[in-house]
Amino acid sequence: MIELGVNIDHVATIRQARRGHEPDPLQAALLAEQFGADAITVHVREDRRHMQDDDVRKIRPALMTRMNFECAVVEEMLRLVEEIQPQDVCLVPERREEVTTEGGLDVVGGFHLITPAVQRLQSQGMRVSLFIDADKDQINAAVNSGAKAIEIHTGRYAHATDGNVEREIDRIRRATEFGVSQGLRVNAGHGLNYQNVSAIAAIQDISELNIGHSIVANAVFMGWEKAIKTMKELIVTAQLQTLRPRG
Ligand code: PXP
Repeated sequence: MIELGVNIDHVATIRQARRGHEPDPLQAALLAEQFGADAITVHVREDRRHMQDDDVRKIRPALMTRMNFECAVVEEMLRLVEEIQPQDVCLVPERREEVTTEGGLDVVGGFHLITPAVQRLQSQGMRVSLFIDADKDQINAAVNSGAKAIEIHTGRYAHATDGNVEREIDRIRRATEFGVSQGLRVNAGHGLNYQNVSAIAAIQDISELNIGHSIVANAVFMGWEKAIKTMKELIVTAQLQTLRPRG
């Protein structure tokens, strides 16, 4: 069954709007676990626009599930990850001026920088995933880096308009199959919401979906519990439908 990693960055975004104490990302993480999250995903950005170092320091030991720590491949972040020791690390590209992570990591171009980071973190027992586009060359480079996992960037699918949606789903499906055939754990995420998640959750070999913005946005109206449970239900239903024997 596909696991749901609930990304709580934007709980911290709301708190940072006033630089105060609420809403508390730790409370969001613990409640998310109660409501069905299989992992808690956090991204400490270099500009600290949402999650702060002290947030991840508090959240990591309190979790019953696991922490998936997203970060850029820069020494400052690798050190923080080494201090926190999350179970999973997802290496992502980062540009300060971007609104969100706008594309996948270029593992081909950055191979000599990324591979030592992968080896360094995995030698300490963390499972490293590379956030990449659904591209065969990038997947091959991820395999060669020694990373145990990839996360396929679903942003192109999420933003696709009518004619291109099926093509984008197909790209993600083929990339997933190829990744799994190469021995990788394949996760996916970015831009997934209550309307578009089912087609991705129906791809059988995907291990985990990481979803943040839409869950936090919908929690404003339906509450944190319902926002997480509804998303989880959509994922489970889509998966079960693909497992049904065809008549
Ligand atoms: N996965 C990765 C690697 C990300 O960087 C993000 C955004 O921080 C997400 C998943 C979640 O994306 P969204 O907030 O659009 O659901």
